[in-house]
Amino acid sequence: MAATPVEPAERERLQAGFDATIARADRIEPRDWMPDDYRRTLVRQIAQHAHSEIIGMQPEGNWIGRAPSLRRKAILLAKVQDEAGHGLYLYSACETLGVSRAELTEMLLSGRQKYSSIFNYPTLSYADVGTIGWLVDGAAICNQVPLCRTSYGPYGRAMIRICKEESFHQRQGYELLMTMMRGTDGQRAMVQESVDRFWWPSLMMFGPPDAESPNSARSMAWGVKRNSNDELRQKFVDMTVPQAEALGVTLPDPALRWNAERAHYDFGEPDWEEFAQVLRGNGPCNAQRMAHRRAAHEDGAWVREAATAFAARTAENAKEGVR
Ligand SMILES: [Fe+2]
Ligand SMILES: [Fe+2]
Repeated sequence: MAATPVEPAERERLQAGFDATIARADRIEPRDWMPDDYRRTLVRQIAQHAHSEIIGMQPEGNWIGRAPSLRRKAILLAKVQDEAGHGLYLYSACETLGVSRAELTEMLLSGRQKYSSIFNYPTLSYADVGTIGWLVDGAAICNQVPLCRTSYGPYGRAMIRICKEESFHQRQGYELLMTMMRGTDGQRAMVQESVDRFWWPSLMMFGPPDAESPNSARSMAWGVKRNSNDELRQKFVDMTVPQAEALGVTLPDPALRWNAERAHYDFGEPDWEEFAQVLRGNGPCNAQRMAHRRAAHEDGAWVREAATAFAARTAENAKEGVR
């Protein structure tokens, strides 16, 4: 994965070229020289993003067999399939940095790479399908739209398509919640209960406060990241509060109020100790998510073996001119 060693003078020239590309806000492409730390940071970030898409299929997949109507089932199936697609684009983007899909999977399964902590929370009612679309995909959009302009070409291009699909995910979630809010008292209570559970974990999706996010400054200097965690969290809150009002739900934060001076909403502090615990593997579903992912990987072994055998035979036939 590391670049080939180069002479100091040559290295300086390459570094200057890289810096100039970043300064022009141009893209770095797979064959361009890049510093090892830049490559490592990107592998970590893109892999974590890919793993999140794949693990993120589990909480909602939990409800596919119990969707309340054919229409809801079709929407949910399409959404969960999109997430699989996002994982695949991102694994492909990551492979252009010189790491294989098998290595990335192994790093997820061994716990050396992480996925977003939001997917370690359970989905307890069908309202959670709506809340995840509205809040979790909504937060993902805030995080991901700036990534369409990220400095690494394959990542930025993958993000453009992903963002288009994420906005469908957010809309279908909001539409589901709106339908439930127009329904019975029981349905309204179900929505409120779901929003109460997902609000704070959604705010945690932007990562720790800027003061405690040591890698952020470097990622911003490299143009990998375009906005700080706190900026994006504020943007999400400002975007979401009017949507909550239109929906008729209460966001579970007594400190939430409009601040005319700042022209932003003030809001309370998420429980960062809970965030740390979930990151350490102690969230409500960490063990279950990993066990399920591991079992799916083992169950799929025959597909990988068959595909490898087929590729080898095809290559053999091509050599012998057999069609
Ligand atoms: Fe996605
Ligand atoms: Fe999504």
